[in-house]
Amino acid sequence: MKTIKDLDIKNKTVIIRCDFNVPIKNGKILDDTRIKESLKTIEYALAQDSKIILLSHLGRIKTEQDLALNDLAIVAPVLEKMLHTKVHFLNATRGPIVENFVHNMKVKDIVLLQNTRYEDLKGNKESSNDQELGKYWASLGDVFINDAFGTIHRSHASNVGIETNLESAAGFLVEKEINALSSLDKPQHPYLVILGGAKVSDKIGVINNLITKADYILIGGGMAFTFLKAKSYEVGNSLVDESHLEYCKDILNQYSDKIILPVDFICAPTISNDNSVTIKGLGEIASDEMGLDIGPQTINLFSQYLASAKTVVWNGPMGAYEYKPFQEGTNCLLSFLAEHNIKTIIGGGDTVAAVKNKPSLAQNIYHISTGGGATLEYLEGKDLEALKLLN
Ligand code: 3PG
Repeated sequence: MKTIKDLDIKNKTVIIRCDFNVPIKNGKILDDTRIKESLKTIEYALAQDSKIILLSHLGRIKTEQDLALNDLAIVAPVLEKMLHTKVHFLNATRGPIVENFVHNMKVKDIVLLQNTRYEDLKGNKESSNDQELGKYWASLGDVFINDAFGTIHRSHASNVGIETNLESAAGFLVEKEINALSSLDKPQHPYLVILGGAKVSDKIGVINNLITKADYILIGGGMAFTFLKAKSYEVGNSLVDESHLEYCKDILNQYSDKIILPVDFICAPTISNDNSVTIKGLGEIASDEMGLDIGPQTINLFSQYLASAKTVVWNGPMGAYEYKPFQEGTNCLLSFLAEHNIKTIIGGGDTVAAVKNKPSLAQNIYHISTGGGATLEYLEGKDLEALKLLN
């Protein structure tokens, strides 16, 4: 993969695609990790006396109301503070305002353009990789750096479109993420995969791709109940994806020794912070109860498998992690992995949120990805166009 260090960007106008798609609530950025992770590339370009044009999407734009909710202006002051230098913001994605500004840029100037997905409002131009748009953005600079790992699984105008039209390379964040993930191509064994989250359907691609490569797949979260029902266990009111029962039966038949399922559960009648919970074993969940986290015996069982692991990849929490009573399973496995210094790669929004809640553990985790969907699609073994074009 070509990286920013392979290109001569000295005094050049460099377009950097970042992923500033950060969570926002009541006008406040809740987690600025993605902004922080973009600094290394921007600082390198500054040190090379580049003129820097930053592009990013924020949220998804379908209606006029979405525009105000996803105004990228919110990122500029945060970035400015982190970089200790002025970051200009233009409330435009193209046109004379952009062209005049770029034309008059001096070395070390930084400009952030408005949310690339504002182009989706009329004609879905960014997300459908409109050829004319990609070409236009490419025309603004001399080189293109793709540092938006979180968006690497999208083929949009602001990544694939520009890469098709301009000399391109990966930024430091994309390089770091790909190095971590590609280390899984030849993992040290035992290699274990932990999968959680609500839906089996979200993880089928990963299971299919990794079942032959990994030694074991430990399954928790809501998705475990579809597997358990496929084995004819009573799961009460727990989440079951009926349309994937056959898939689970087949994969369990083929790989019964590799797929490890929970043996006990933290249960409650509804998902809430206030309900009293009970611990139930296999087949004991009552018809008015839901399994909402793995129980203590499962934590033990999974820890025994993990104890000898040399490589672990983890996507999806073990329970309904947004609610306090159902965080224990995820937190215990996280502590175990961190304390035993097992090479662990974590991807996926909720699992990453769990690590963020425990900063002391996070430092012992080998890699915490900035991309949820991107990590999943990489692990599914899919061809990622935006990445391919950097090779
Ligand atoms: C993400 O948050 O996963 C990335 O920024 C991509 O966003 P998207 O799923 O809206 O394309």
